[in-house]
Amino acid sequence: MTQSKRQTALNIRLFKASDQEAVLALWQRCDLLRPWNDPVKDVLRKVADSPDGFFVGQLDDATDDNIIAVAMAGYDGHRGWVNYLAVDPDHNRRGYGKEMMEHVEAYLVSLHCPKINLQVRSSNTGVIRFYERLGYSEDAAVSLGKRLIPDD
Ligand SMILES: CC(C)(COP(=O)(O)OP(=O)(O)OC[C@H]1O[C@@H](n2cnc3c(N)ncnc32)[C@H](O)[C@@H]1OP(=O)(O)O)[C@@H](O)C(=O)NCCC(=O)NCCS
Repeated sequence: MTQSKRQTALNIRLFKASDQEAVLALWQRCDLLRPWNDPVKDVLRKVADSPDGFFVGQLDDATDDNIIAVAMAGYDGHRGWVNYLAVDPDHNRRGYGKEMMEHVEAYLVSLHCPKINLQVRSSNTGVIRFYERLGYSEDAAVSLGKRLIPDD
């Protein structure tokens, strides 16, 4: 199991304002930024709406800039969602992504959320394999969206 490759434990805690730079850099490094989404606005919206679902994973062995994982989770009263899950590529395949998702799931269960949904690009087969390892499966549904507030 991936845990055997670990050097240090992951401490998962809530995001705080001083984490913003590290979180944006991590999303950039994980290729999660898109021109139509302003990540600063995404952070501010999450903090304003439900900061209790905004998690960072920090390694035990370093100081403030040691954030290697992020996830944003939320419950809309029907389904739970997770967005912006990222683990630093230098720390992949050590079980940290799984640990972040287990934390997200425990958070959503604590809110009595019955099901979690998430979106992955169909071309992103590695990430799909990751979620399948965690028990996720493809829903018979097409994902639709409509922008309500442009970020530019
Ligand atoms: C997807 C991601 C979070 C996985 O993080 P990770 O810490 O490397 O994953 P883990 O080590 O916890 O892996 C858990 C299991 O999934 C498997 N897995 C992880 N990445 C995989 C990949 N690319 N292909 C196949 N299997 C993979 C692991 O082998 C492990 O399996 P095991 O339980 O049999 O050991 C990370 O690769 C990432 O941040 N990717 C870029 C950002 C991204 O696309 N995020 C998702 C947005 S929807």
